[in-house]
Amino acid sequence: MLITKKVEKALNEHLELEMNAVYSYLSVASWCEREGLEGSAKFFFKQSAEENTHFMKFFSYINEVGGHALVPALKAPKYEFKSIAEAVEMALGHEQKVTKAIYKIITLSKSEGDHATEDFLRFFVDEQKEEEVQFKRILDKIKLIGGGPQSLYYIDKEFDKLSATTSGKKKKDKGAEAE
Ligand code: FEO
Repeated sequence: MLITKKVEKALNEHLELEMNAVYSYLSVASWCEREGLEGSAKFFFKQSAEENTHFMKFFSYINEVGGHALVPALKAPKYEFKSIAEAVEMALGHEQKVTKAIYKIITLSKSEGDHATEDFLRFFVDEQKEEEVQFKRILDKIKLIGGGPQSLYYIDKEFDKLSATTSGKKKKDKGAEAE
């Protein structure tokens, strides 16, 4: 096995966080759709799909290096939100948690002399930075323009534009994977 038992355990624990993101963003997307926020729903459906690719990268990596990837048990996500701001705040909080968890596994990999895992996690350091910045910017914008009906229309359009950008980034990631 290329990774140590400690790293294998940490990576398996991390699977839960990635799959929680898949579920949470899917749940936000569903809430947005019900609220008539189509652009926001599109954005969160894409975020959920992107988190699923993260989950699969971790999952495949664990087995690739001789560990045993374990499908995590999950709690149901939050289904209702008071506002789009609350949903975005939840997403930002989750991404901050994921970033911290990834940094911890990098520290562990270094102490275990596991360069392969350290290298594998580099992609996620960049990814987390992008996601945190993105959610923070959205939240700042929502706070700035407020949550009235006209503001909501504008916010939804912004999410729609962002979902197009996100798919562009995914294409770039896929290209990098094929290299
Ligand atoms: Fe894959 Fe954004 O956590």
